[in-house]
Amino acid sequence: MDLQTLQQECLACQRCGLCQTRTNVVFGQGAPNAEVLFVGEGPGASEDEQGLPFVGRSGQLLDHYLEAIDLSREKNVYIANIVKCRPPQNRDPLPEESKACIPWLRQQFQILQPRIVVCLGRIAAQQMIGPEFLITREHGKFFDKQGTLFMGTYHPAALLRQPQNKPEAFADFTVLRDGQTVELPDVQFDTWTDEAGQVHMSLGFTVYGLAKTPRNVLREAGNSMLYYGRIIFTSLADLLRGRESINNLSGPV
Ligand code: URA
Repeated sequence: MDLQTLQQECLACQRCGLCQTRTNVVFGQGAPNAEVLFVGEGPGASEDEQGLPFVGRSGQLLDHYLEAIDLSREKNVYIANIVKCRPPQNRDPLPEESKACIPWLRQQFQILQPRIVVCLGRIAAQQMIGPEFLITREHGKFFDKQGTLFMGTYHPAALLRQPQNKPEAFADFTVLRDGQTVELPDVQFDTWTDEAGQVHMSLGFTVYGLAKTPRNVLREAGNSMLYYGRIIFTSLADLLRGRESINNLSGPV
């Protein structure tokens, strides 16, 4: 199944009551080879009119943030929503509407196989990361779910209402670009010196993000040691090349 075929099926969807009030199904938009999937809550008035996601004021803000980290729906991301049809008066989708609609998103996910999913706002983050997810507490953190990284951040419409949160939200986008180093709780940071006087250190972190090279990260950790450990790494270059995961990397940097 490809995205176009799925879209054709989705355009005729009548799985919930929202089909009666919609103008258009908003299936999704973006690059078919996208490795980052952005997920919003549901279409608003402009999206319902045009049949495209995030084309209103909040969409313009999202596009600006994407541009700042060299991503765009034309080039390298895909944008979709939890529900594909506009809830009347922009109310939150009802649980039964989300439940009926989410299989479409699941199929989009399976076709795209993104490496990173960014959830825009609480509704998407609670559906995709966990029911207890709180944007104010956990935005910008990566969660590794069976090899796909999930992150939640502020919904752009919420940022238009509360612009004081824009710096934090923008920082989440720069984390996406620059990487995040996360200490692994179960790894010990052993250091030892061998007979030749060379210092060894076991690595205890995982690197998530788009632009850091493993060697840069290791240099930041200090460059006079040998390192052993595990790095999961995602770079912009890798995004174009494919997944890189380095286990037991060792040697001088
Ligand atoms: N808000 C969303 O959650 N999705 C859209 O597509 C537009 C606005």
